[in-house]
Parts: sequence; structure tokens; C-alpha cells
Amino acid sequence: MQLKNMMTVDGVPVLIEGERNLLEVISKVGTIMPVFCYHSYLSIYGACRMCMVEDDRGRLMAACSTLPEAGMKIRTNTSRLRRYRRNILELLLAEHCGDGAQTDKQKIVDKVIERRKKEIVALYHKVCQASAH
Ligand code: FES
Repeated sequence: MQLKNMMTVDGVPVLIEGERNLLEVISKVGTIMPVFCYHSYLSIYGACRMCMVEDDRGRLMAACSTLPEAGMKIRTNTSRLRRYRRNILELLLAEHCGDGAQTDKQKIVDKVIERRKKEIVALYHKVCQASAH
């Protein structure tokens, strides 16, 4: 019998209690996911794909940009996911340690970093203004 608002993470039943994405549900079982472009204080960009998880049908999804749904069965650490993350990390490192030629992937990473910078600066100013009062 499937309980309302329940899903499983690596076989562990978890209650969905208004979490904004799978990352927040996954953290409830104590699993720390690798992330690059996600921060809980910033808007979701979902570009790096380091937080990919796999469901029971073999579908891959970014945990940071996927809403939790009752009945989901998510796996966070399969050999397929480890291989996928390793490839992504190698690509990201290769793009930034290369001969300086800017590839499409590097442009995307730079765009993500630039976007984060603006949001972080805006957040910093907001926090500074709040603490000044
Ligand atoms: S952390 Fe970058 S896509 Fe999820």
C-alpha cells in the first residue's frame, strides 16, 4: 500500500513535507548530493547536471530542479550515476584546463558562474541592508 506523500530514496521511505525539490527530500535521509550550480538561497538553474538521480524506470533527472512526487522511487548512487557524474566533472575540468579556446560548454559554465555572481552580490547587499537596521 502506498502512503500519501511518501516516496523512497535508495529504498528508504521518506515523507514529502513541502520540499521544493528532490535534493531537499534526499537530504532528509542523510545523503549529500554533489552539486555545482545549486544553492538553496539562489534561484534554480539546473545546468551542471551533477545532482542527477535515477528513478525505478531508469529515467535520469536533476534533483535540484525536480519536484518530489508521491510514489517516486529515487536512487542516488548507482554505477550509471557515478559514471555519468565522473564524465560531467571531467568535461568541466577539461574545458577549464584546456588551451584557452572557449568552447560552447565553457561558455555555459561561465554563464552559470556569472549568473551566480550577480545573485550572490544581490543577496549580499540584501543581507547588509537588513543587518544595518
Ligand atoms: S546542481 Fe546543477 S543541475 Fe542540479
